[in-house]
Amino acid sequence: MSYRTHTCGELTVRNIGERVTLAGWTARVRDLGGLVFVDLRDRYGKTQIVALMSSPTAEFFKSLHNEDVMQVIGTVQARPTGMANRQMPTGEIEVAAESAALLSQAAPLPLGVEDEEEASEEVRLRYRYLDMRRPRLMNNLLLRHKALQSVRRFHDEQGFVEVETPFLIRSTPEGARDYIVPSRVQPGCCYALPQSPQLYKQALMVGGVDRYCQITRCFRDEDLRRDRQPEFTQIDLEMAFVDEEDVFAHTERMMQRLVKDTLSLDIDLPLPRLNYFDALARFGSDAPDLRFGLEISRLDAQFRGAGFRAFDEALANDFSVFGINAAGKGELSRRERVELEERAKSEGLPGLLTVPVSSQGLGGALGKLFDATRTAELLRVMESKPGDLLLFAAGEERSILTGLGRLRRRLAEQWRLISKGEYKFCWVINPPLFEVSADGELTPAHHPFTSPIAADIDKLETEPLKVCAKAYDLALNGFELGSGSIRIHSPRLQERVFKAIGINIEEARHRFGFLLEALGYGAPPHGGIALGFDRIVMLLAGETNIREVIAFPKTNVASSLMDGAPTPVDDQQMAELGVKWINISKNT
Ligand code: AMO
Repeated sequence: MSYRTHTCGELTVRNIGERVTLAGWTARVRDLGGLVFVDLRDRYGKTQIVALMSSPTAEFFKSLHNEDVMQVIGTVQARPTGMANRQMPTGEIEVAAESAALLSQAAPLPLGVEDEEEASEEVRLRYRYLDMRRPRLMNNLLLRHKALQSVRRFHDEQGFVEVETPFLIRSTPEGARDYIVPSRVQPGCCYALPQSPQLYKQALMVGGVDRYCQITRCFRDEDLRRDRQPEFTQIDLEMAFVDEEDVFAHTERMMQRLVKDTLSLDIDLPLPRLNYFDALARFGSDAPDLRFGLEISRLDAQFRGAGFRAFDEALANDFSVFGINAAGKGELSRRERVELEERAKSEGLPGLLTVPVSSQGLGGALGKLFDATRTAELLRVMESKPGDLLLFAAGEERSILTGLGRLRRRLAEQWRLISKGEYKFCWVINPPLFEVSADGELTPAHHPFTSPIAADIDKLETEPLKVCAKAYDLALNGFELGSGSIRIHSPRLQERVFKAIGINIEEARHRFGFLLEALGYGAPPHGGIALGFDRIVMLLAGETNIREVIAFPKTNVASSLMDGAPTPVDDQQMAELGVKWINISKNT
């Protein structure tokens, strides 16, 4: 006989009269005079089981503890009139128990599995298998599964080939620190865990795979945040004989299908595109949140010569003035405006000037300084009307823009400008190819195989920082979902890019080895993208922390609380690897 004929979420009035066997966890036992009720739970739902008080089954039910696992055989019957619960799929029936058996006992739980709220994240991570019995995590895991299947199905239909690339590799050039694995058989040598399959997917293109997709784990030893994990999952794509338009079209259709398959929502295509510099200038971010306004305006011309001392000084130092129109917020009290100024400082701005707009014109510090023409021009540029509150900050362009970008998001949350369930995607395209690293070196902003845009190739040697890349990010609701580029497939151009960042071909060969060689054996034009799968699921699930959609995530210090990793290993294991700790006190 099988353990169960049905799940605990499945029986309805259509099954009345059937003899069934159920198995699951004891969610609740209620002793109501003549009858004993048990709610039996599994991941599909709950079913009410009932036993007559005098029966042996009722006695057994009364001996159960929460979360004991049991099996029940009985007959489905309608609940008595007035006792139905139409909120639950199984709420109109119950199972009259004939017999029941204990399958496994549960010790008292460190974590309530019914109530969502009452557990610290530490306890939830430590007892993740119990946390999983709670609906929030279980629903997220089910959503994640659905999303995985959607992406796989879509790519299979589109003729993509899923190829597994290795985990024990030579270091990849993604820019974070590698996790290193010492080799036992080759003492003194290490593998790196892949930060991404970048080099391999390009090798697959040289090999003629043509359309590659892999849903794969990547490993990066970097500072962790709510949208980052040390191991995370990418939807990694690469295609041969494509340009950006093909990558955009494919990725957009994949995302459209994914949102439809998981949330039954329709996304309009094509997705909007923003130039990288426009995204920064208008939203203060390269992953702009387009669900609300509060756009940034550049106001150098409007402030120049106006006589507002702090801003005059900034402009004289070649800095800039930027502003945001907080529409309809002119009524904020003096205290609220001071709070706003404090908030701006905590977001890294040097200060914030707040100016209410009324039918008489500008208030606050600008009221007396701005004449009618200047006022009209400012209001026009900021699309402002009486009742608004204008926010201004001046200083070094990038730091003011990113500071206002953060403030903009905070204010949107505080003022509840974001409606739940809205999904605003956008592409941010053509960022600079290079950036200056903390130690003043020119480095690739993405990775060194990213192609420059054709019009900028001539600037590689003369003005490298002005060269833009054939690269693109996909953003959703203020998060970077994915990133990719058209790759360099000409060894000659690749050499020029390496030269621009001060790497000679020998060094490049040493660092990127086989890929450079491969590109010399007939590389098709190719490009691709990788999307952060955990981030996608996080946003689809309406969560704000990536850990909520990962079965066994790590904490902010990269610990796994359930298994205690990382841990010291045996001296014997270390000796076999020829590895010795130095200057480390073991805290076993
Ligand atoms: P990139 O490094 O931008 O590109 O990574 C692509 C996407 O992966 C996600 N992501 C992360 N998610 C969770 N935790 C992390 N630590 C983490 N790091 C990155 C982000 C990001 O947008 N090989 C290139 C892609 C390419 O050029 O095709 C790459 O890996 O959502």
